[in-house]
Amino acid sequence: MNLTLPDTLVAEIDRLVARYPQPRSASVMVLHALQDHLGYLSPDAIEWTAARLNVQPINVLELVTFYPMFRQAPIGRFHLKICRTLSCALRGSHELYRHLCGKLGLDPHAHRPQTTADGRFTVEFVECLASCGTAPVMMCNDRFFEKVTPEQADRIIAETHS
Ligand code: FES
Repeated sequence: MNLTLPDTLVAEIDRLVARYPQPRSASVMVLHALQDHLGYLSPDAIEWTAARLNVQPINVLELVTFYPMFRQAPIGRFHLKICRTLSCALRGSHELYRHLCGKLGLDPHAHRPQTTADGRFTVEFVECLASCGTAPVMMCNDRFFEKVTPEQADRIIAETHS
């Protein structure tokens, strides 16, 4: 395992683990902290987590592969998530996705996360973002956008340059 973490992060993780009766109960919180710091969860990060929580790496990997918010590969600086579940699909999210992919030079028919060659954007179809009444919705990192039109999507991308 080759993973060096800052003391501040290790201390934060120690505090998280101490909140739970069993170390393994902190698994998801620890993975969030590591992903926030590293950008994704590498095999080393998974091994580190397993050792810290006294579980097997497979126990951690199960969580990482089950929850869609965890990533096993780096992503772009701006992560665009477009909801593809029913309400959004009926209100144009597939068109929105194709529009964004076309604008960024990505495959509009791919259903996996795609990152632009310059590492600036990752575009990803995701399941329900829990705002079905304001479909179609998308996120840009932690920002949430509702009733998104292709023109608004263009503005969201343009804003990342300012
Ligand atoms: S279907 Fe898109 S937010 Fe629920």
